[in-house]
Amino acid sequence: MGTTIFAEMSALAVATGAVNLGQGFPDVDGPREIAEAAAAAILAGRGNQYPPGAGIPELRQAVAAHQKRFYGFDLDPDLQVLVTVGATEAIAAALLALLEPGDEAIAFEPYYDSYAASVAMAGGIRVPVTLRPPDFRPDLDALRAAITPRTRVILLNSPHNPTGVVFTPDELARVAELACEHDLLVISDEVYEHMVFDGTHLPIASLPGMAGRTVTISSAAKTFSFTGWKVGWVTGSPEIVAAVRTVKQFLTYVSSGPFQYAIAQALALPDSYYASVAGDLRPKRDFFCDGLAAAGFEVYRPAGTFFITTDVRPLGYADGMEFCRELPVRAGVVAIPSAVFYDNVEAARSQVRFAFCKKREVLAEALARLGAVRRRRP
Ligand SMILES: Cc1ncc(COP(=O)(O)O)c(C=O)c1O
Repeated sequence: MGTTIFAEMSALAVATGAVNLGQGFPDVDGPREIAEAAAAAILAGRGNQYPPGAGIPELRQAVAAHQKRFYGFDLDPDLQVLVTVGATEAIAAALLALLEPGDEAIAFEPYYDSYAASVAMAGGIRVPVTLRPPDFRPDLDALRAAITPRTRVILLNSPHNPTGVVFTPDELARVAELACEHDLLVISDEVYEHMVFDGTHLPIASLPGMAGRTVTISSAAKTFSFTGWKVGWVTGSPEIVAAVRTVKQFLTYVSSGPFQYAIAQALALPDSYYASVAGDLRPKRDFFCDGLAAAGFEVYRPAGTFFITTDVRPLGYADGMEFCRELPVRAGVVAIPSAVFYDNVEAARSQVRFAFCKKREVLAEALARLGAVRRRRP
């Protein structure tokens, strides 16, 4: 679903010269010293041949140290950390490892498009629980109601793409209680863990009863602005990590050799770097949210991530898909209709997502162009 629309919108962006705020990738690379570390690793012959299947020890140790530094976890880097081809492979491998055909996986929709595909590849059945505007808070009664004897996994993503919701400790505690009560596993996609503007990120694995039933997933893509390197990781109990590693072995075996050395170095960057991730994005969020509101959109201000969900009905459109197909031609901007992230498309018919992980001048140009949309509408 999403993949097709991303391709269509990117092609439209190229054809029309539009500002592409569709797909979520930054227009500035991550720290130069980390790029140099990757180049140095290649030239020094580090990681150019198949690295260890679980990931190089330096990176596994760096992931464990990161989980200790930010969340107080004590993980054994040999048994409790697995390096993957981005978070995307981690999600796929986790679902393939944990689901039996016919098992149900509950996910809050809207969701990152690989969730649906990965659940399907595992022979599972996805069960959406819908997040609704204006605040998109998780409906925990609906979550409880969605659990059946076939439920095996809850797929969680906080900070959440595309709504920008950051689950509160209380909400996470209620999800955790349900998981424990029904003996469910939780796959927790935390790729936006360092992009929180309001509230704090809390890994659900830190809650009582959750360490042994949670697959925690993250990635270098967003935190270090190297989305093309595809370095991700899984942490969890030795049993869970072993199960995911077994699947990963036959999906890709290994990956990203020299980049693993660079990301090991990146993970050890000082706290000031991590603070700058959200620190640099926050003013862009405010600038772009305010600009979209001034251009006539209804704006749902995100607490995290680098996405903004809007509603285009105030602009005279009932259908986000129609709006997004017209927008590159009418205004020279590309956005994504949020309905592609839903099973229940009616819940998001008029919603549109923008990515704001772009240079300030690019956002300003996009806003100038979007201002024209309203003016052209009778
Ligand atoms: C929620 C979510 N999970 C996972 C990913 C993919 O991460 P990676 O590029 O590390 O595979 C993305 C990327 O957009 C995402 O938004």
